[in-house]
Amino acid sequence: MTKIAFFDTKPYEQEVFERCCKKDMEIKFMEHRLNRETVDSAKGCDVVCAFVNDNLDETVMKGLNEMGVRLIAMRCAGFNNLALKALGDLRVARVPAYSPYAVAEHAMGMLLTLNRKIHKAYNRTREYNFSLNGLTGVDLHGKVMGVVGTGKIGRVFIDICRGFGLKIIAYDPYPLDGIEYTDLDTLFRESDFISLHCPLTDDSYHLANEKRFAMMKETAILINTSRGALVDSVALVEALWNRRLRAVALDVYEEEVGYFFEDRSGEVVDDATLQLLVSMPNVLITSHQAFLTEEALFNIADTTIGNIEEFFSKGTITHEVTA
Ligand code: NAI
Repeated sequence: MTKIAFFDTKPYEQEVFERCCKKDMEIKFMEHRLNRETVDSAKGCDVVCAFVNDNLDETVMKGLNEMGVRLIAMRCAGFNNLALKALGDLRVARVPAYSPYAVAEHAMGMLLTLNRKIHKAYNRTREYNFSLNGLTGVDLHGKVMGVVGTGKIGRVFIDICRGFGLKIIAYDPYPLDGIEYTDLDTLFRESDFISLHCPLTDDSYHLANEKRFAMMKETAILINTSRGALVDSVALVEALWNRRLRAVALDVYEEEVGYFFEDRSGEVVDDATLQLLVSMPNVLITSHQAFLTEEALFNIADTTIGNIEEFFSKGTITHEVTA
């Protein structure tokens, strides 16, 4: 029997993992996140199944090695929360793709909502306020969309944008045929809308920063559905105060751990930057939900279970992450 310690469980994923689980696997579902305080709860398990906000630092890696865990099965694409240099005997699998459509469609949904102020209209009409004052948007048709990162999600997003008649310019260190590329500064200068679809790396950390906010059109809208730390959020608040851009959509936030995915509605929020962002009428925040479609949840569970099965039956990992 392969025993799996499943951290940060949410009801919507437990149900689908139970459905995909094999007969020779036993999943121990736990609500708490994996970090140095909770690592002991993986004792007796062969696999740790973790998600985006679990913190697999050097201490956690050491603990997992000592207790004989053999595989870290990430049920997400990103792995920036793993201390890969401290892996020791551990192997890591991930889910490289589960639905690029889910994320790309959410990014476009956020842009449409902000541009046409649908979030405001929804609240108004619920109180029988049918005024249109302040709800004017712009046509997307004919405007310039800057896409940072033209991988799986970026390419689906570009297809969606082309359907709206947007002109695309892009930045990616590995350009593809059929897309017009430019450097990042030009992209920030010339775009009417900017959508981030690259991974978080040393190179991309705070790529949207004070210098680049100053380059943006004052009418521009920024969308980040990728990773929070691509955007310097303190500089973003400053830029919004200085009316350096029209609006921003965030599905991710650099200090999201502890807030996103959780109900904190009854508590005082300590994060002043998050409070300021939430308070602004031209900021739309969703809590890392861009991936959340039925198809994506099924693909995540199916691939994660497939990764575990492959490793324990053949010793290989098709979707391996190495240091
Ligand atoms: P991918 O690996 O297919 O594509 C990433 C692209 O970014 C590649 O073309 C790569 O060359 C490019 N890239 C790398 N470094 C770059 C840089 N410094 N500047 C510009 N481009 C760079 O990844 P995929 O599947 O398209 O995912 C993109 C990102 O979306 C993931 O890294 C993840 O952070 C985020 N994501 C967010 C989700 C959400 O629910 N909000 C769900 C899934 C992914």
